[in-house]
This record gives sequence, structure tokens and C-alpha cells, in this order.
Amino acid sequence: MKTLVLFGSPRRAGDTAFLLDMLLENLDGEYMIVDCYHENISPCVDCRACRKSDRCAINDGMQKVYEYAERSDNLVIATPLYFSQPTGRLLDVCSRAQLYFSQRRFRGITPNLSIRKGGVILTGGSGDTTGALKAFETLKDVFLMFGVKDIALPVCCLGTDKTPAAENISAKSEIKRLAEFLNA
Ligand SMILES: Cc1cc2nc3c(=O)[nH]c(=O)nc-3n(C[C@H](O)[C@H](O)[C@H](O)COP(=O)(O)O)c2cc1C
Repeated sequence: MKTLVLFGSPRRAGDTAFLLDMLLENLDGEYMIVDCYHENISPCVDCRACRKSDRCAINDGMQKVYEYAERSDNLVIATPLYFSQPTGRLLDVCSRAQLYFSQRRFRGITPNLSIRKGGVILTGGSGDTTGALKAFETLKDVFLMFGVKDIALPVCCLGTDKTPAAENISAKSEIKRLAEFLNA
């Protein structure tokens, strides 16, 4: 089993990283983590080359992500909430899934993707659930681009200003539930 992970926090040892590490410890098979803040991956610039070509014209770290996505079984997106949305850098990387949109819309091709299941980890400083719901709606569009239909309910670790992820018992138990869903 292969899992592609998009990691959207700039903090390598923050709340999101803590929960993601826990998920990966419980996950079968292998994985590839895309550290959106620290890797050399540009946003889509709508150059529209992918309306005519199989390949995204931007030759950067995303090329190996496309290759891994084509062999993956799962897609996991782990991100803090920034302004009630996934972080900007996470969305920059996700914008490159426009390649798959163009294949479907402009070229009449079904993308060469095998991802069946999706999982989401969201962290937020406030305890308000509204932002998490908005972010999850946005991420559903991303999963659609990657052709993923079976998406688990998100693991939401809210209120990190007061209770860090490492002390959030319910978030930790939700992580185990997500691992079971992906492993099944
Ligand atoms: C620019 C910025 C915007 C944020 N916006 C929100 C928000 O809209 N809702 C929320 O609950 N927390 C918000 N936060 C708090 C983070 O989501 C929270 O601290 C989270 O636990 C950080 O995760 P990390 O340690 O993995 O980076 C924001 C933080 C920053 C830096």
C-alpha cells in the first residue's frame, strides 16, 4: 500500500506534524511526504500547457509527486487552518492537480491515477468548528482532482492554543480510526 501525504504546516514539529507522525506510525505500507513549505514546488500559473500535453510544463519537485500519485492507494492531507482554510502553500501545491483537471476537461483523458481513499487532518488554534468545515469543503475539491471518492471524516484537532495536539485525547483516538480506514 502506498500513501501520498501533503503536509501543509511550516512547523516541522508542530501540532499537525505530531498527529501526522502518529498516523504514519499506524499506517501499513510505504508513504511519500510532500512538505509544502520546504520543497521546491511552484503554484500553477495557468500557462495552459496541460491542455495540450501529458506533462505539467513546470519542471520542479511536483514531477515526482505526479509519479507517486499515479502509483498511490491513499491521499492524506494534513494542514493547520489559516483563515479557516488549508494553508496557502498547501493550496499552491494542490493547484498543480490542474494537470488532471485539464486531462479530463480539455483532452478527454482519464488521468492515470489509482488513489482510492482520502484522509484529512486539520488543526486549529480556536475551538470553533466553522473553519474546519470550510477547509474540509475546499479539500473535497482537491480530492476530486486526484479522483478520490472515498474520503474519511476529517480528524479535527481544534483549540490547540489551549490544548496542544499531543494532549488532545480525542484527536489521538481519531487518528487511530483514520489509520484503520486507510489500512482496510
Ligand atoms: C496566519 C495564521 C492564520 C491562522 N488562522 C486560523 C484560523 O482561521 N482558525 C484557527 O482555528 N486557527 C488559526 N490559526 C492557528 C493555527 O491553525 C494553529 O496554531 C495550529 O495548531 C498550528 O498548527 P501547526 O503547529 O501544525 O503549524 C492560524 C495561525 C496562523 C499563523
